[in-house]
Amino acid sequence: MDCHVVILAAGKGTRMKSALPKVLHHVAGRPLIEHVLARAEALGPRSTTIVVGHQAESLTSALSRRRDLTFVVQEPQLGTAHALLQTESALAGATGLLVLLSGDVPLLSAGTLKTLVDRHTSRGASATVVTAVVDDPRSYGRIVRSGEQIARIVEEKDATPAERQIREINSGIYAFSLEGLFDTVRSVAAENAQNEYYLPDLVSIYRQKGLVVETVTVSNADEIRGINSRGELAAVSRIVRDQKNAELMASGVTIDDPATAYIDRDVTVGADTVIHPCVFLEGRTTIGAGCEIHSGARIVDSQIGDRVVVLNHSVINGSRVAADASIGPFAHLRADVEVREKARVGNFVEMKKTVLGAGSKASHLAYLGDASIGEKVNIGAGTITCNYDGVSKNRTTIEDGAFIGSDSQLIAPVTVGKGAYVGSGSTIRENVPGGALAVSAGKQRNIDGWVENKKKRRD
Ligand code: UD1
Ligand code: CA
Repeated sequence: MDCHVVILAAGKGTRMKSALPKVLHHVAGRPLIEHVLARAEALGPRSTTIVVGHQAESLTSALSRRRDLTFVVQEPQLGTAHALLQTESALAGATGLLVLLSGDVPLLSAGTLKTLVDRHTSRGASATVVTAVVDDPRSYGRIVRSGEQIARIVEEKDATPAERQIREINSGIYAFSLEGLFDTVRSVAAENAQNEYYLPDLVSIYRQKGLVVETVTVSNADEIRGINSRGELAAVSRIVRDQKNAELMASGVTIDDPATAYIDRDVTVGADTVIHPCVFLEGRTTIGAGCEIHSGARIVDSQIGDRVVVLNHSVINGSRVAADASIGPFAHLRADVEVREKARVGNFVEMKKTVLGAGSKASHLAYLGDASIGEKVNIGAGTITCNYDGVSKNRTTIEDGAFIGSDSQLIAPVTVGKGAYVGSGSTIRENVPGGALAVSAGKQRNIDGWVENKKKRRD
């Protein structure tokens, strides 16, 4: 049976008190809406339609690279039933099933969605509602049953004191049969405390018509948590992170303190890697096996090989580090850096668009930008590739086995040949042939008695 997904995301998100649309706020490193879209994909839908309204433009532009999405604008926003109605022409001719998701409910499991579709189909239901039993049902719509059967859903603001005692709540996630759906949605009235067209009213309308309405009750109420405030945003982020950390630990990763391991959902980590407290692994990062990632490290969109050690407070962004290399402490791999096998990048080294060859070392205090550095090269402390001449960026090439003495400046474009030496404190403006020694500092002069003489002059 065809499955079409509709995601409601037109609401204002008043309680976020934000200039940003609610569904673009990040939960564990990804916008809320991306979590919901990932859930939707598990259904293999024929189409996915997002209802936008409040700050529609920033939302559509944030998702513009997703060619598979249809956007429908709801303006003004007159409630959830009114929101669904706006998708009627986008779904013209569609048959089968419509799964309705809420843009602000990101934790729903793939298993629950599958159960929703299976139950809806096997029972021949017109509507199926995902519900949960919670300790604090405030702000949710309550499930009113007659006997076993769901009879209707009543919103908090319209509920009688007795109905407010009900702890079974509406998740705002539903499956609907498309047949006759929009005609029924059109018949929803806005006679309620908020003068809004409530989608949950479909339940009582269908029941009065004698149609089948089913429910699926999740056992873990966290799954249907909606985000309406910054506090809920943080709480849900915590749940997502806890899940991720639990998965990693189950797969053989040591996490010293899961409460302070901030690992985004799409990150992968190999077995026997140790993650110390306060580590951030973000975006599309992959970490190999047997690595050690020390406190304060932040690794974004980077690939780290096996047995790599990343020491404290290193920042690695958009870069690749090969097996058995060591980074930091306090190293900054800024962008597009490749550190090859067994290379070592020490403290206060900044790198950008640079390859550091296998077994090479830059152990202390250096800036290496736009450089190709061969194997077994030694970069002395205080080395700077002067890659920018005020107009353009130029490359530095350092061939295999070269030795760059401390406090040298390599003024690009420049090449230091194979096995060449650069004396400490040199300013290298011209290419150094392989095997040569380049020195540029002048001959040293010692002026005897200078200090004593100076003192006398002052007196
Ligand atoms: C809704 C349900 C409530 C349920 C709760 C679960 C209604 C009337 N109530 O309440 O039974 O327990 O979700 O979280 O449906 N939206 C639009 N257009 C609108 C209004 C809302 O697109 O005109 C979107 C919002 O952006 C949001 C979703 O629909 O993604 C839910 O709206 P919200 O206002 O948060 O509904 P709740 O009051 O939470
Ligand atoms: Ca809500």
